[in-house]
Amino acid sequence: MTLTPVPRLAVIVVAAGSGTRLKGGAPKAFVGIDDRSILHHALRGVFAATTAQVVVVVPPGYEGEALTDARDAAGDRADLVTVVVGGATRQESVVAGLDALWADVEIVLVHDAARALTPAAVFDRVVAAIDAGAAAVIPTLPVVDTIKRVDEDGRVVGPVDRSELAAAQTPQGFLRTVLRSALASVDVDHTDDAAAVAAAGHSVVTVEGDAVAFKITTGPDLDRARALLQAIPAASLVQAPVHTAPRVGIGTDVHGFGGEGTLWLAGLEWPGEQALSGHSDGDAVAHAIVDALLAAAGLGDIGTHFGTDRPEFAGAHAAAFLAHTVGLLGAAGWRIGNVSVQVQANRPRFASRRVEAEQVLSAALGGAAVSVSATTTDGLGFTGRTEGVAAFATALLLPA
Ligand code: CTP
Ligand code: MG
Repeated sequence: MTLTPVPRLAVIVVAAGSGTRLKGGAPKAFVGIDDRSILHHALRGVFAATTAQVVVVVPPGYEGEALTDARDAAGDRADLVTVVVGGATRQESVVAGLDALWADVEIVLVHDAARALTPAAVFDRVVAAIDAGAAAVIPTLPVVDTIKRVDEDGRVVGPVDRSELAAAQTPQGFLRTVLRSALASVDVDHTDDAAAVAAAGHSVVTVEGDAVAFKITTGPDLDRARALLQAIPAASLVQAPVHTAPRVGIGTDVHGFGGEGTLWLAGLEWPGEQALSGHSDGDAVAHAIVDALLAAAGLGDIGTHFGTDRPEFAGAHAAAFLAHTVGLLGAAGWRIGNVSVQVQANRPRFASRRVEAEQVLSAALGGAAVSVSATTTDGLGFTGRTEGVAAFATALLLPA
């Protein structure tokens, strides 16, 4: 029998939480995404990304199930898998994982099972930073929302400078000795390992995270993971295809006036204007953009991902459609170059809100450049008769 060589890298996959916020009927890691559990997907990602000792930390009683999942995910590398029981807090679970490391391991990655769809590229970036000399490294994403400090009554106390903030993800990578000694010396419970290492006086560097590495915490997060897996095969989520050339796409949409409430168009609410009808808010501009982006990526069209069988998008506004689309694109190995959209309509008049529309649409697309233009059609056709709105979009995608 040939044994896999003893690695110097280990991944501790913490999966011992109870999942109180998800309420999935089982500890979170053992809840199904599709026909496979969150843990199974997470482990498949780990094995796609690395060859390492893989220590899976689980709640008492779940050792057998975890071992089955891990062996399946590991394929012919099943001898790299160790399963141990975790503790009452995430930090205690990490310590339980550390106790199970083989002697030769020098670098430890700690990874949340709940980040089940983490792309291999994130693992690569973390390991590369350690190899380049860092003692501690975390993947982060810029914070896109405006952040407020609020008091106990929910009143805004003050702003927070967003440029100083980053959202931390996993896997977090450490020199084994650094993580070990930091966790031995902490006296408070930290929600991630980097906080413990920083508290012990080490500097922690960052590498780029990935939107697809989001943590499944609540029901909507699980829905998002399910939708992603439906749209894109798990294998290409983990190992996003590498593209070498840009691609363009075109999308159009038409909605007629006659919906309920106020008009939503180009991601903006237009008080006093007649609403458009449609399954969602009838925002033809946003829908044309989604179609152009999906077409460019070869990921089908708006009906593929937001059909009437998706009740969560009924009545949804542009931001929800566009953010979901950005997630699909990222998972398929694309980032947005730019988007250009033209509206043909008599009403609303875009001139005074064109820049605002560009800003809102751009923010919903993660900062990508969006240009909006508008025209009338000289009284001709349904747009000329003010019966509805037409929108035409083109999009350029670049390799991520
Ligand atoms: N975790 C762990 N041991 C604990 C608590 C958490 O191994 N005692 C793991 C979870 O399984 C998860 C990761 O740490 O993969 C991040 O924790 P979180 O998302 O908070 O998961 P849960 O604690 O399970 O969820 P909740 O807080 O909603 O109960
Ligand atoms: Mg928790």
